[in-house]
Amino acid sequence: MPVPRTAWRIDRAGSLSRLRRVDEPLPDPAPGEARLRTEAIGLNFADILACLGLYSATPKESFVPGLECAGTVEAVGPGASLSVGDRVCVLTRFGGYANRLNFDTRYSIRVPAGWSAAEAAAWPVQGITAWYGLLDRARVARGECVLVQSAAGGVGLQALNILSTVGAKVIASVGDERKRDFLCARHGLPPGAVIVRDVRRFGAQLDGAMDAIGADGLDVVFDAVLGPFFRPAFARLRPEGRFVLFGAADFMPPGSRPNYLSLLWRYLRRPRLDPLAMISANQAFIGFNLIWLWEQVERMPAAIEGLQRYAGARRPHVGERVPFAEAPRAMQLLQSGRTLGKVVLEV
Ligand SMILES: NC(=O)c1ccc[n+]([C@@H]2O[C@H](COP(=O)([O-])OP(=O)(O)OC[C@H]3O[C@@H](n4cnc5c(N)ncnc54)[C@H](OP(=O)(O)O)[C@@H]3O)[C@@H](O)[C@H]2O)c1
Repeated sequence: MPVPRTAWRIDRAGSLSRLRRVDEPLPDPAPGEARLRTEAIGLNFADILACLGLYSATPKESFVPGLECAGTVEAVGPGASLSVGDRVCVLTRFGGYANRLNFDTRYSIRVPAGWSAAEAAAWPVQGITAWYGLLDRARVARGECVLVQSAAGGVGLQALNILSTVGAKVIASVGDERKRDFLCARHGLPPGAVIVRDVRRFGAQLDGAMDAIGADGLDVVFDAVLGPFFRPAFARLRPEGRFVLFGAADFMPPGSRPNYLSLLWRYLRRPRLDPLAMISANQAFIGFNLIWLWEQVERMPAAIEGLQRYAGARRPHVGERVPFAEAPRAMQLLQSGRTLGKVVLEV
């Protein structure tokens, strides 16, 4: 029997102002699925890019944004590996902004004991992103020096957790002083290792931070900003260094719809690499997109194990809790680039 639900839906990507709240029926869970009574929804930068029509995986038809949420199992379909009453966090390929949803149980993780729903909803996408980029792809080892861009954001804080477990040396970059103070207080990073990025002297800032932590180059750069900060960081990669690029926040438009001329200008000025130079420098460039990993369902158990092992020791930091009814405001907060940790919608 279908049950009623409320969701945030957008009929056609292109503007955040098209997002609307709808009441609609939800069918019974299909084989291998369960139904979640959602308690919290984790926001991701990709949600905004999808609604703006700037994310390659965005559905062409009407869709409900949202890549992760947490709550309690309310019903199960045939063959589902969960029971009614289980508390889980769920990875969804869109569809998360809803107070009820059906999900494939292979993409769910039990909520760690003692964690709130908001903390659980803040965990899987950003934790797996950091694990996949830093450990599965770039193979960061103890003692290596890693630059984490946007280190006080959702993925950034997960990256710091993982790097502290691995025993890497960290240089963190952020957009403002408040974030730097937060990182020094919460993560115990020495002030000299945290850079408040300044486009005019980012290279010198990196040199100062490397001096402060006793590094003579960067072994790994973990970057989802791109823009003018790419070149100075790339130029400081050591031999055998790995540059991991997984986003381009510098492209994020400030308003509710994209300014395509400004985007085109940024696109034309995007950094270019010389592959031949990378041979003699023994360097690697790694790009990745989690949606691709999501589609390799046979790899989910390893990704979930990586998440639990490396990003499960510390609860995610929920910087903003916003009521479900105010989803557009929560998206604007994340879009502003000024949030700390995770932005979560509470149902
Ligand atoms: N490839 C993948 O599969 C994948 C998966 C997850 C996330 N990502 C990417 O990882 C990045 C972090 O994601 P998140 O969800 O954890 O977000 P977040 O880091 O919590 O927020 C994004 C951060 O980007 C920085 N930023 C730089 N330029 C910006 C601009 N023009 N407008 C707004 N923010 C700007 C801001 O931090 P500072 O100013 O402190 O730098 C902001 O806090 C995003 O770029 C996202 O697209 C990629």
